[in-house]
Amino acid sequence: MATPELTLHVPVLLQEVLDNLPVPAAGRVLDLTLGLGGHAEAILARADAGTRYLGVDRDPRARERALARLGGDPRLTILAGTYEDIWEDDCFQGWMLAEAPEGLDAVLMDLGVSSLQLKDPERGFSFQAEGPLDMRMDPETGITALEWLSGQSDATLADAIYAYGEERASRPVARAILRSLHAGTLHTTLDLAAAVYTVLPREVARRKKQIDPATRTFQAIRIAVNGELERLAKAIAQAALSLKPGGRLGVISFHSLEDRIAKQTLRRLSGIYDGPGRSAPEVLPRHLRLIHAGGLKAGEAEAGANPPSRSARLRIAERLDCPQPTRTKP
Ligand SMILES: C[S@@+](CC[C@H](N)C(=O)[O-])C[C@H]1O[C@@H](n2cnc3c(N)ncnc32)[C@H](O)[C@@H]1O
Repeated sequence: MATPELTLHVPVLLQEVLDNLPVPAAGRVLDLTLGLGGHAEAILARADAGTRYLGVDRDPRARERALARLGGDPRLTILAGTYEDIWEDDCFQGWMLAEAPEGLDAVLMDLGVSSLQLKDPERGFSFQAEGPLDMRMDPETGITALEWLSGQSDATLADAIYAYGEERASRPVARAILRSLHAGTLHTTLDLAAAVYTVLPREVARRKKQIDPATRTFQAIRIAVNGELERLAKAIAQAALSLKPGGRLGVISFHSLEDRIAKQTLRRLSGIYDGPGRSAPEVLPRHLRLIHAGGLKAGEAEAGANPPSRSARLRIAERLDCPQPTRTKP
């Protein structure tokens, strides 16, 4: 399978990140999704020599690219890990103790996959080019998409495609995929897309100028394979509570499922109760203050120049001095 020339990932909402996650002199920054280091490069370019920047990513190839791009910068440390588990990592804890004992000035979580991952057919994320059915962000751990699919029943697969892809035709799509798997014809990304098209024809979507019908199913399987939403709320809360007072957390999401979790977690930590009946069962401690309550989206120029930015939303919150009780509701 030929690998087309890979274009670099363009960091989304970069200006909004720079404007809303200011790094003070000798600032301490944690980037939980370093990727190819696009945001890191821009943040470090503005920061002083006393700044320290810790970049974490679960993908070894992303870390390699970030290292090649920024590795000469003595302010930067790169760690392998996930934002769910890095908190227990010895190297991470050592860095925090040595560099940021009072907490962090800025934490960035730019969720999802990078263009590098999406555009490399060998990673198996894309329905536009033939590749193995892999979809692991860290190709060294966990099971591939094909192995994951092999463990599904019609019902569990349909549930995942519905929950993580918001695909209304999840049941017939799941049946078509498993039919292809059991017939021995499901090996590659194009085979998976072809199974989806038997239920949701691509030509119809094209005629109606709708997104490719395989988009939602690929998203769902990728989220399931990587466990992307399982502990996201906890990771966001941990990131927020690792800030020092006045420090800021930015979370960039790319679809409504991620954004809902980011929004609800930040609102809860801001003392806002979103449960049924709008009546808080207890006083919620307020650890954060929301900045731009609805989040920030790409402007026209960015959306035109970098299509992935069209679905991105940046939510920002600032750590308060100490937890403050609140009874206020939105
Ligand atoms: C959208 S990209 C980040 C791009 C980066 N901000 C840049 O400008 O180059 C998301 C990155 O997060 C990584 N990632 C996804 N889930 C992760 C997790 N649970 N823990 C750590 N990294 C994760 C992916 O491997 C990917 O490199």
